[in-house]
Order: sequence, then C-alpha cells, then structure tokens
Amino acid sequence: MKTPLRAARRLALLLAACALLLSGCTPAGTTASVTDESQILLGFSQLGSESAWRIGNTKSVQEAAKRAGVQLMYENAEQKQENQIKAIRSFIAYQVDVIAFSPIVEDGWDNVLTEAKNAGIPVLTTDRRINTSDESLYVGFVGSDFEEEGRRAGRFVLEKMKDARHVNIVEISGTIDSTPMRQRASGFREVLGDDERFAIVESVSGDFLRSKGKECMQGLLKRHDDIDVLYSHNDAMTLGALEAIEEAGLTPGKDIVIITVDGEQAAIDLLKQGKINCVVECTPLIGDIIMELAKKLAAGESIPRNTYSEESVFTEFDTDLDSLPPREY
Ligand code: AHR
Repeated sequence: MKTPLRAARRLALLLAACALLLSGCTPAGTTASVTDESQILLGFSQLGSESAWRIGNTKSVQEAAKRAGVQLMYENAEQKQENQIKAIRSFIAYQVDVIAFSPIVEDGWDNVLTEAKNAGIPVLTTDRRINTSDESLYVGFVGSDFEEEGRRAGRFVLEKMKDARHVNIVEISGTIDSTPMRQRASGFREVLGDDERFAIVESVSGDFLRSKGKECMQGLLKRHDDIDVLYSHNDAMTLGALEAIEEAGLTPGKDIVIITVDGEQAAIDLLKQGKINCVVECTPLIGDIIMELAKKLAAGESIPRNTYSEESVFTEFDTDLDSLPPREY
C-alpha cells in the first residue's frame, strides 16, 4: 500500500512528466505513467571507497541505474556503520521503493531494517551479508560467494606447494566482522583441512586498505623470518604488502608466494610480471543485476533469496593471461 508521502512523491514525478509532455520535450508516441519504470526510486548505501574494487562497484551501480532508468539516491558511508544506518533512515523517510545496501559489518542491523520492514520497503543486501535472527528483514542478497573464493585460494596453495614438507602461511584479512573477512578465512581453512604441513602462523586485519596492508606486512616480516605464503583478502592490501616485501629485500612471487582476491587490473598486471602467483576473482560489476532485482521488487514480484556472481581464478599456471580482456576496475 502506498503511503500519502510516497503518493505525493509520485504525483510530483507525474506532474514533471506532464510538464515535459506539454512542453513537447517527450518524444511522440511515449506516454507518462505513474507506474513507468523510470520512476522507481532506489536508495543505495555504499559502505565507503576503501579500494579500487569499491570504486568500481559504485561506478557499476551508478551507471547501471542510468541505463535502467532507475532514480538513484546514493549515500557513501565513509567506512562507518552509523552513517549507513543514517542513510537507510533517510531512504525510509523519503519513502523510496527499494533499499539496497552493502553492509560494512554483519551485525547490528535489526533495528533499522525493522523500521524499513514496517514502512513496507523491501531491502536487498549487496556484496556483503547481514547476521540476523529475523530473515524476513531483507528480501535477498546479490554478490559473490566469498566461501568459494577462500576455497579457491586454498586449492591454489595445495597445488603450488604440493611437494613442500612444511608451509608457513600468513594471512592479511579484511575488515573484522565483515562477510568477506569471515568467509574468505573459513573457505581457505576448510580446504587446507587438517593437513599438518600447512601452518597459518599469523592472521592480522588490514581493513581492506592498501596502507594497512603495508603496515601489516612490515609487522609480519619482523615477527616471522620464514614466511612461505601470503594470503591477502584483497588487492589493495596486497599492493601495500608487496611494497613492504620489496623494501625488506625479498622478491614477491618467488621468496614468498602471493595469493590475492579481487582481480583489479593492477593485480592482473603483477600476476603477469610474476610478482603475484594467484588472483581469485571477486567482481564488483553487479550494478545491472541490482537494477533488475530492484525493478522486480518495486513491481511486487518475488526474487531469489541469493543471486551469485560468476567468478573465476587466474594463476601463474594459466597459459592465456595475455589474452585476458582489460578489467573494468
Ligand atoms: O566486500 C568486497 C570486498 O570489499 C573486496 O574484496 C574489497 O576489495 C572491498 O573493499
């Protein structure tokens, strides 16, 4: 049911469309209608702009909204959960048709999402997930399978180090309590299983930031002089870690095997140069699918509970790296 506020907003949009028609600005043969798809209003709360991945994700959403004729209310939370909660409250006050958001961490959303539910606004989580005991607080998730990304990283370690008798692994993980941090860690450990040859000697959080990736690696190199493998949860932190490794006089990709997640152009270039050994793909290009799902929700249709992106893995064993098309992030 439309509330008066939402009806008022739609009336304003209809009047604007009529004005365009009267001024002759609308092409002949088109009609203005309150149910026109161009009038869907999507509130999107992005968590920040910590990496090239995130910037690519924002661009994908903004460009897809334009292509789809969806009006986008975009808010950047600058890495703060309280800003995301504020943004969602403003979307509710504005009576948007659909709310989409990429939750910085998994916990702490129940109150604000209950408000959205009470206002009758469907919520889609994008890229990351929430942890809640009330699954009715969101209608669906669209993004990557982070567990599988972790498994892919683990499978590469098994293959690359198959002849090694003992392997010391360090891990630089993403933002504490975020979905990719939790799931990339658990998928990786699941594959390495109980094989005693593999020891994760230390795991530290670099918050998905290049600067912290460098700091973390400097600390790890001070505390351990026998690191065989670095598993880094994103390319931004990997780029920082590589600086630290080179400054310590070591050769990344040779002295230390480097596994990274995302697949930014910079990481693919370093894979080709032999400084990275494995890139697990995580695509930020999910804008079109978000728009498709938002339109369905606005039309009152049901959507799948989970929609996963198709992703791949690129390694030093691939023979066709030079034929990879340019990345869009
Ligand atoms: O949630 C996806 C992760 O967040 C990406 O791996 C990372 O680069 C980003 O900051």
